[in-house]
This record gives sequence, C-alpha cells and structure tokens, in this order.
Amino acid sequence: MSSLTNSTVSHYIDVRSDTVTKPTASMRQAMFEAEVGDDVYGDDPTVLKLQSMAAKLLGKEAALFVPSGTMGNLISVLTHCNMFGSEMILGDQSHIYFYEQGGSATLGRVHSRVVQTQPDGTLLLSDIEKVIRPFPANDDHFPITKLICLENTHNRMGGKILSVEYTNSIGELCKKHGIKLHMDGARLMNAAVELNIEPSKLVESCDSVSFCLSKALAAPVGSIIAGTVDFIKQAKRLRKVLGGGLRQSGILAAAGILSITEMPKLLKNDHENAKILAVGLAKIDGIDITASEVQTNIVVINLNSDKLSIDAPTLASKLKANHKILISASEITRIRFVIHYMITTENIEFILRQIQHELDQYRK
Ligand SMILES: Cc1ncc(COP(=O)(O)O)c(C=O)c1O
Repeated sequence: MSSLTNSTVSHYIDVRSDTVTKPTASMRQAMFEAEVGDDVYGDDPTVLKLQSMAAKLLGKEAALFVPSGTMGNLISVLTHCNMFGSEMILGDQSHIYFYEQGGSATLGRVHSRVVQTQPDGTLLLSDIEKVIRPFPANDDHFPITKLICLENTHNRMGGKILSVEYTNSIGELCKKHGIKLHMDGARLMNAAVELNIEPSKLVESCDSVSFCLSKALAAPVGSIIAGTVDFIKQAKRLRKVLGGGLRQSGILAAAGILSITEMPKLLKNDHENAKILAVGLAKIDGIDITASEVQTNIVVINLNSDKLSIDAPTLASKLKANHKILISASEITRIRFVIHYMITTENIEFILRQIQHELDQYRK
C-alpha cells in the first residue's frame, strides 16, 4: 500500500484503482450543506433519501447505506446464509473469494464452493450445476447450498461485463434449486453505462446487490446493498454488529447522491480512455494484452518475460520514481490500470510514452 501523503499524491497520475478518486467540488459542497441526523435511529434524512434513490435505481424494494463494498458483500452473504452448514458457490477469481480475507468463513461460518471464473467473468452454468448440493436430502455429510455470487463488472477479469441474459440464466437456475443470488456489483454502473441500460435491468433476477459509491463514482466513502424489505431489515441488524452503524452519515450520503445522479455520465469517457490505453499498450512489444477485450474502465496486461527482463513491481517503482505514475503491480508479471474521472486522455498518452521508454531499457 502507498504511503504517499495527500499533498504529494495529487501530483501523481494515479491509475492503481478507481478507489483513489477524490470527491468532486459539487460533492464537497453537498457534504457541507447536508441535512443530517442519527442514522442508527433512522433519523438522517440524507441517508434515507440516498437509500430510497438507490433502491429505485436497482429496482429493489429497499436499500441500505454501508461503509464499504467488503461490508456490503459480507452482510449480504451472512443474511442469505443464516443457518449452520450454509454454502455459497462463487468464482475462484471473485472479489469475495479472492480479496475479502475469507470474511464469510471467518465471521459467518459460510463455506465457499469455488468454481472456475471464465475469462469473460462468467461462471459456467454446467460448472455450477455440478456443485449444487443435493438438498433436501437425507445426507448429513453435506453443507446446504444457499447462495450463488456473481460479480459485474468483474474486477480480476479486467472489468468484464455480465450480460442481462447471462445473469437471468443463473437466476433461473437459482429459482429451480431454491438458492439465492447475490450480485457483487461494485462497478455495476460501469456495466450499465457501457450497455446503455438501466442498472436495475442487470440485477432483475438477483435477490441482493452490493454497489460501490466510492470507486469511479467518486464518493469518499460508502456502498449500497439492496434487496427485499425483509432482507434489508436483517442486513441492518448485521451492519450494526459489524460496527457499520454510522451516526450523522448524511455527510457521506450527500456525496453518494451525486455519485448516482452526476457521475454516471462521466463513465463512458473513462471507458474510452481505457480503450485508448489498451490499444496503445498492445502496440508496445513485450506487453501481452488483447485490446479489443477491454470493455469498461479496467485494463490488465502481462509483461512477457521471454522479451523483457523487468518484472511488474520493478516497472511500477520506475514509473513512480521517474515519471510520477502510479500503477497496480502486486503480481510478478501482471499489471492493472483503472481509469477514472481524474485521468485525462493526455495522461493516458503520457503513461504510454513513459512505459515504452522504461521497457526499451529492459529488452532481451
Ligand atoms: C468487485 C469488487 N467488489 C468489492 C470490492 C470491495 O470494496 P471496498 O474496497 O469498498 O471494500 C471491490 C474493491 O475494489 C471490488 O473491486
């Protein structure tokens, strides 16, 4: 993790993640002016307004403001898997499985049944069908399949979009087996904007959705979970026990309201910049990427070790030290760039030039 201070980081071109976005001027103004109350008592009008707008946006009965996407996923999983021996089916590359410290197991005693995530972010229907436990059945050996989790857009698969048809097909499967469907929609708005459809359409067959305000939508803090009134009632109890019951959180919700009203129109531009970056990277010898596969704001590349004698973390430190560019390189050859509203097309061109310049010094 970076130890850059706020004043130094502003001089950097930061494409490590879309979580680095800072609140816009209008967000800061709205936060300043927000009408607030104690949200644990249900008294904060701005939080209530955000929750009602978000429920409508996602086509669900109710919504809840939570501090983070990780907490939103955890609360959703725990709410659905509320009995001993519950199991959820999810992808081996999903954020919930890969990046959330196994919280569902540690804190919720929920067992994960993992299937392979496909390059397009989907899980194969046939893979899922194979691992659904036979229930009801008189066999005490097995956990009980309670939940399937999907992710749209898919972070580790490079911002891939799950289509309405695909999600509905998993929804059908869930209905057939009496299983709930949760969507980790941290970047659902990116998918909706790119497909030019309502976000609600993408999650119509999901029992719950989590959705981040603090990524490309620029809010400083916060996520939303949505589902039925009963689901949200249970979720609210869990939010409290996890320490997520906030008090005058209308200050944060005020920014969140602009995240869902003002920010979506900027996402298309992020996607276009991501494509410019991908096309440029594909032209640099030694970088493996299929530019046409980039769909939203995430670009993932691999450095070809047959052609280059530099690894990803070293390239990241060179770009930072020599050019004030921050990229995400936590694996040996893999690099992730995430484009957001603070990144211009000129920034992208600069990044491309400096990567070319650095790699030229490490050719085999
Ligand atoms: C797909 C996905 N889900 C959930 C999260 C977790 O969000 P947060 O960082 O707010 O906990 C992230 C964060 O990057 C994510 O990419």
